[in-house]
Amino acid sequence: MAKLIQFFELNTGAKIPSVGLGTWQAEPGIVAKTLTTAIEVGYRHIDCAQVYDNQAEIGSALKKIFDDGVVKREDLWITSKLWCNDHAPEDVPKALDRTLHDLQLDYVDLYLIHWPVRTKSGAVGFKREYLEQTDIPGTWRAMEAFYDSGKAKAIGVSNFSSKKLQDLLDVARVPPSVNQVELHPGWQQPQLHAFCESKGIHISGYSPLGSPGNLKSEILKNPVVVETAEKLGKTPAQVALRWGLQSGHSVLPKSNTESRIKENFDVFDWSIPEELMAKFSQIKQDRLIKGTSFTDDTYGPYKNIEELWDGE
Ligand code: A2P
Repeated sequence: MAKLIQFFELNTGAKIPSVGLGTWQAEPGIVAKTLTTAIEVGYRHIDCAQVYDNQAEIGSALKKIFDDGVVKREDLWITSKLWCNDHAPEDVPKALDRTLHDLQLDYVDLYLIHWPVRTKSGAVGFKREYLEQTDIPGTWRAMEAFYDSGKAKAIGVSNFSSKKLQDLLDVARVPPSVNQVELHPGWQQPQLHAFCESKGIHISGYSPLGSPGNLKSEILKNPVVVETAEKLGKTPAQVALRWGLQSGHSVLPKSNTESRIKENFDVFDWSIPEELMAKFSQIKQDRLIKGTSFTDDTYGPYKNIEELWDGE
């Protein structure tokens, strides 16, 4: 009998649903329908961010879903993220208020620092000359105030290396609950996984399918993934997601297609046997989202991607 793995428990005691709907590049005009379909299928976790530029539409869809009595607010897990141009401690509360306004919510279940990267306060768009030195401890203190007030039931980070997490743990009064990072069979991050596990920080995996549409990754064609799928009578996407769950990560697949939204949620009542899980360590590893645009010789704290990811 397969272990369902429908939730993971965070260090706050809250239970984060293990499969969330990613909304990165979920285009306005489509995202409301996608969200409604996903909730009908059974998704209870929606992963949002201010920079995805679709939170107002998600908010209208959520309002309708609540008004129609499809689910209640407390049945859903909603994550959002602080963008780089709002890192200044005085900007952080305004950013969350804007997000709550757009999402038409009183609180989010999880609020994350989107990147360990700071750009000029209020900068519109992105240019390397907008990059500034970070003050993660200062930004984090403003995040901790949300946890105290209940506007964010949990707080965390995204795209943090083990070193940056340790630096944060050294100064945090409220430790981060989650680190959301790129994670899929082609970028398994064993070192970060071990570090987070040792510190009680849950990992959520973005681009869990390797973003086949945008980043053109071949992970769904990888022989280990394909052979596992054939043996189990599942699709490569389902295998990639189930691999994430069995590795202890929540997964955030994005799809606008109803059949795939369903397919990506059909990952609970079966499992990948241990001997097949072991084969995933043979898969060639490559980071897809390198963050190169956040590095610069002149501006900001990171000259290159080694400094951004601390060599991980
Ligand atoms: P679509 O939205 O047309 O379904 P990721 O979550 O790793 O970023 O991947 C998202 C991309 O993967 C989107 O382009 C999405 O396309 C595609 N996708 C989502 N679900 C599946 C699936 N089950 N099989 C193949 N591709 C998928």
